[in-house]
Amino acid sequence: MKKNLLALLSILMIASFAIVACGGAATEAPAMTEAPAATEAPAATEAPAAADKVEVFSWWTGGGEAAGLAAMQTVFSAAYPNIEFINAAVAGGAGTNARAVLATRLQAGDPPDSWQGHAGQELIGTYVAGGQIEPLNDLYAAEGWLDVMPKTLIPLISNDGNIYSVPVNIHRANVLWYNPSVLSANGVEVPTTMDEWFAAMDTLKAAGVQPLALGEQWTKMHLMETVLLGTLGADAYNGLWDGTTDWASPEVKAALDNYAKVLTYANSDSSSLSWQDAAQLVINGDAAFNVMGDWAEGYFRELGKTPKTDYGWAPTPGSSGVFQFLSDSFVLAVGAPHPDGAMAWLKIAGSKEGQEAFNPVKGSICARTDCDKSLFGEYLQSAMDDWSSNVVVGSLTHGVVANDSWKTEIDTALGLFIADGNVDGFQAALVAACASSGPCK
Ligand code: GAL
Repeated sequence: MKKNLLALLSILMIASFAIVACGGAATEAPAMTEAPAATEAPAATEAPAAADKVEVFSWWTGGGEAAGLAAMQTVFSAAYPNIEFINAAVAGGAGTNARAVLATRLQAGDPPDSWQGHAGQELIGTYVAGGQIEPLNDLYAAEGWLDVMPKTLIPLISNDGNIYSVPVNIHRANVLWYNPSVLSANGVEVPTTMDEWFAAMDTLKAAGVQPLALGEQWTKMHLMETVLLGTLGADAYNGLWDGTTDWASPEVKAALDNYAKVLTYANSDSSSLSWQDAAQLVINGDAAFNVMGDWAEGYFRELGKTPKTDYGWAPTPGSSGVFQFLSDSFVLAVGAPHPDGAMAWLKIAGSKEGQEAFNPVKGSICARTDCDKSLFGEYLQSAMDDWSSNVVVGSLTHGVVANDSWKTEIDTALGLFIADGNVDGFQAALVAACASSGPCK
């Protein structure tokens, strides 16, 4: 695994250099150079009261997610009863709304003390490049975290020798959730390849069963990245992000054709469904499959569902032995109004106790190597085994492999493709996105 994460790291470093060279991230700089000046005065005058609160910004309001945050908050409030925890979560899966609100606040010099950011390019190519977050090296030294966090994760939250965030978890993106009863009632085996998946979905469709549950646009990007991985394999998938896989190649065309075909099995009302709505179709027996990160497991548990009986899981077709990961982490804002409260929060976020409370509920595994495995359910125990034995690659939708400018261009291209279904046009737009915001210059 180390080797694989190191390979991923070098991809990220190349990507970040390329992004700087392309000027993508550099355009964001002015907003943050203003931030410290705007916040310095209030921070100084409020200093005596500053320790008694912390504003924590995330997008964890929905099923499974709010409960995870609440579990961490309970640990925080027990350790720091005199610090008020202000939960500034903004609803919307994958942070689509929250990140827009955050950007506006950062631009206005009104940062929350600490916010959720993904390890990888989202953090390094956006917030670090923008000078919006503080290094946390002293905190890492004081808490001894370098000894207990996966050594291969640290580079994904570091730049120029500084560590910039506190990871709270490891999530897996490439999970195929299914309804075991629906599959067995229709004589369908769990597919392991794209072709098996298409055959399974043909059988289900012919039987009048909704083969695939899908939600709003970010869930379509999530599905797309898993189909790219499942069709191209781990090496060529990694190559998309470091410039060694040609976006114009026939292999990428084949992957996009597969993606276009997968979409034909989805529910027609996808754009109005949240990820929870789509996942629920599977749990209720109204659809057979859903591709979603393992936060879905947190949701299924919150609904009182039983693993293997009410829901089953497998790597998305074509991705056996590959763990497509992302990691939620929390940062310290430059100009944080309550720096002491923020440091107290970050201590809990990185602690064994905090992570053991948070992750079994959230549907993720610890970003520490010393959590007690017996606290986790059957699915998450299998995720722990896979994380330590599989090839590890990064997620696009959840911030690992591309910074915000590139991801936004891909998202725009995806939106057009969903509307017009033109695979060639989509591929051309993806080629252009890599050339303008990625490493393909
Ligand atoms: C991801 C995030 C997960 C989960 C998911 C759905 O971006 O990393 O923790 O919250 O969005 O909202």
